[in-house]
Amino acid sequence: MSTSTLTQQVREAKHVVVFTGAGASAESGIPTFRDSLTGLWKRFDPAQLATSEAFRADPALCWGWYEWRRLKVLQAQPNAAHLAIAELAKHVPRLTVVTQNVDDLHERAGSRDVIHLHGSLHSPRCIDCGLAYPLPLTSDALPEDGCRIEPPRCTACNGYVRPGVVWFGEMLPEDAWSAGLAAAEECDVFLSIGTSGIVYPAAELPLRALGQGAVVVHVNPVLFDVSNQEHFLQGSASVMMESLLRESFGDLPAS
Ligand code: OAD
Repeated sequence: MSTSTLTQQVREAKHVVVFTGAGASAESGIPTFRDSLTGLWKRFDPAQLATSEAFRADPALCWGWYEWRRLKVLQAQPNAAHLAIAELAKHVPRLTVVTQNVDDLHERAGSRDVIHLHGSLHSPRCIDCGLAYPLPLTSDALPEDGCRIEPPRCTACNGYVRPGVVWFGEMLPEDAWSAGLAAAEECDVFLSIGTSGIVYPAAELPLRALGQGAVVVHVNPVLFDVSNQEHFLQGSASVMMESLLRESFGDLPAS
């Protein structure tokens, strides 16, 4: 599909779904999952830390890693891609953001009612009784480089507090999954931005959208195979989303 056809589809869309992965936050300085980790975390594989087994085996190691990620998010700012997505919502009748990210950068850029398929770093809860545990929204008490940190204890049952994210092997939150699926099946344009598309069931959403006749566009600096019916915009999320916005509506996000 030519760029002008794509921009026309975006202009005429009744419902746009923006589906994001870690690549959408990469330009805010948040490492993606499949980047190698830096500093003290270099020798760990994120996939090994993001499981309930990892937490139960070594709560301080796992909690320390998530606190390091939370620190990165607290120090980060939304980037031009987050801003362009929030701006795009002002130009189309309906836009739904469905994210695999556990940060709050879409919200901080101005997107509303973001569907978080994989939970949030900012909503920890007791691993035993599920009671929510409020964490301060400042980075004051967090160590710079990350290290082992003993998780807090639940105020009700003394169980360990765990991160509010979905771990490998866990079900997605049912309300988020059904809302994401409904949006994917109902939209006419589906923009899949900065995701490796290998973690299911989230990775099913572009296929569901395609199956219902939506225009599906992948935005990624690294080219990968897509079917004949899908489209690829090769480049960073910020550059591609700003140019899609500008070419569709002649507009740029306010910074
Ligand atoms: P990944 O780390 O698997 O993939 C990040 C993608 O972003 C890659 O395809 C990169 O090429 C791309 N990328 C990097 N920089 C980019 C940029 N500036 N602009 C656009 N794209 C860029 O992250 P996810 O696909 O989000 O799940 O991973 C999916 C899930 O796997 C995560 O939500 C997490 C993880 O395990 C859970 O925690 C359950």
